[in-house]
Amino acid sequence: MSNAKRVGVLISGRGSNMASLIEACRNPGYPAEIIQVISNVPDAPGLEIADKSGISTKAIDHKAYPSREAFETELDAALRDANVDLICNAGFMRLLTDGFVEAWRDRQLNIHPSLLPAFKGLHTHERAIEAGVRLSGCTVHFVRTEMDSGPIIAQAAVPVLPEDTPDELAARVLEAEHKLYPLALKLVASGDARVENDHIIFKNRPALHGAYISPWYE
Ligand code: GAR
Repeated sequence: MSNAKRVGVLISGRGSNMASLIEACRNPGYPAEIIQVISNVPDAPGLEIADKSGISTKAIDHKAYPSREAFETELDAALRDANVDLICNAGFMRLLTDGFVEAWRDRQLNIHPSLLPAFKGLHTHERAIEAGVRLSGCTVHFVRTEMDSGPIIAQAAVPVLPEDTPDELAARVLEAEHKLYPLALKLVASGDARVENDHIIFKNRPALHGAYISPWYE
């Protein structure tokens, strides 16, 4: 029997980060496998990508439930039915209640397109450009009740170039996201990164410690 951690991926849309995780899990020896993909948006394009990869998919439309809690009860049940060890939020654009977050504490990862704690929330690239930062990037972290916070597993930095539009910066960051999420999931699923006192402790691999910098731009 495989020791790979069983992963449920939550999406709301395009699913390109999910696709990068699916790709990573194809590598023999990768310490995780994706068991279930769930979208809160029934026509999310990512569902078809997962389906074509032979992964079980489910749409749980949050609009069909009278409350956040009712939606999350269904979500929680689907994840438990699939017997998942870890959840990866990959462009999952739904705020979760404290109850759900605590039920999956230290077992739910999220990717955010900024160098947290900078630029939490939406419109990160517009705000990074507006603030005039020279570096932006992406962060994979464990989910906590406060939005876009929690122990940081891995971050990748990319430059913000002088003439960047938000779309150009988003594309550069997304390329880094597709590398970072598989690395971060590997760190967690292998046990090389774990939470202690609400911070990440790394073991075994001093060289692989969750910090990545894009190639130098001239
Ligand atoms: C990604 O850029 C992800 O970091 C962001 O949504 C995009 C989803 O793209 N997530 C958030 O902003 C969450 N706060 P994808 O569906 O192609 O992976």
